Amino acid sequence: MNYIVTGGAGFIGSNFVFHMLKEHPDARIICVDKLTYAGNLSTLKPVMDNPNFRFIRADICDRDAIYKIFEEEKPDYVVNFAAESHVDRSIENPGVFLQTNIIGTATMMDACRKYGIKRYHQVSTDEVYGDLPLDRPDLFFTEETPIHTSSPYSSSKASADLLVLAYHRTYGLPVTISRCSNNYGPYHFPEKLIPLMIINALHDEPLPVYGDGLNVRDWLYVEDHCRAIDLIVHRGRDGEVYNVGGHNEMKNIDIVKMICKELGKPESLITHVTDRKGHDRRYAIDPTKIHNELGWLPETKFADGIKKTIRWYLDNEDWWQPIISGEYQDYYEKMYGSREEV
Ligand code: NAD
Ligand code: TYD
Repeated sequence: MNYIVTGGAGFIGSNFVFHMLKEHPDARIICVDKLTYAGNLSTLKPVMDNPNFRFIRADICDRDAIYKIFEEEKPDYVVNFAAESHVDRSIENPGVFLQTNIIGTATMMDACRKYGIKRYHQVSTDEVYGDLPLDRPDLFFTEETPIHTSSPYSSSKASADLLVLAYHRTYGLPVTISRCSNNYGPYHFPEKLIPLMIINALHDEPLPVYGDGLNVRDWLYVEDHCRAIDLIVHRGRDGEVYNVGGHNEMKNIDIVKMICKELGKPESLITHVTDRKGHDRRYAIDPTKIHNELGWLPETKFADGIKKTIRWYLDNEDWWQPIISGEYQDYYEKMYGSREEV
């Protein structure tokens, strides 16, 4: 079977490429990635010489390039991870999010319609449901929760989801969608909360917590997400949405304190800074559907996963050091230089 995996040089996509090559030795994986600031070819180095793997640099919005890849590779499955993924960047510059996340998704599905496909899978996010109040711990996102987005990022992902469901209804395209909570683990780009705090703490630099730090996210170890997508792609029902998350709710401030403790750094590094605009309060997934239909459950508890993740960043400085010494410095200055301490 041939699989096109878009965005496979990013965080979750690369973990999925590794998962597939390990769990499905007969699978041929064609990774299509534009290599934006978030894509990193060095991540894929361990599999570059694998005869079952091919890397193609291409933009998912480039119709000619995508059609050519379909003609050459005749994929059976497409798993679309490629996206602009950082909420703070979407607040600064929404345009590129609309282009890649919406137009790119439509282009990939048009190719699937033209050349035929067993399954198109869209990797989406729980952020399409908006947020939940902190004082209602009894509430969770189900697949029936209305779409109610907050940021340009989540709006672009929700738009893509609507298109995916429309292509199913209108053209009968065999699709599935997964809406997952926050991932963490190896190869997470250091602009996101957990790797940013680990790397800043290692350098004894301030740990910039937005607002009061009481925002809650439902954290999932990336390998658990990859297993869920594998199950949905092969055994999920056409036209269905599956929520993916594991009741691992944590307040931001508590995560940052755990990282300080694990690294032996003082909590005095923690600095409360100006809040994110439109900052979602709480995300929490009800994973009953994927559990009942596909038998999926998360395997890694947060307390173990965060230790493994910190260990990985300690052992893999040669992966993240080149990232943070490049244009990341300008990004950091732009995003954090103007955030006041509150
Ligand atoms: P990431 O930013 O680490 O990686 C994105 C990858 O997509 C990069 O390799 C980048 O080069 C590539 N890309 C971007 N624009 C492209 C384009 N136009 N054409 C081809 N490639 C392009 O993102 P991630 O955290 O790995 O997220 C992957 C997917 O999972 C996204 O669709 C995201 O919305 C979704 N998701 C992420 C999380 C999370 O916690 N990170 C949670 C739920 C869902
Ligand atoms: P992030 O990793 O950007 O994921 P998302 O916004 O998609 O959930 O942020 C996770 C949480 O951490 C979110 O509530 C914002 C907060 N945060 C900070 O407090 N400081 C930071 O420097 C970053 C990047 C995030």
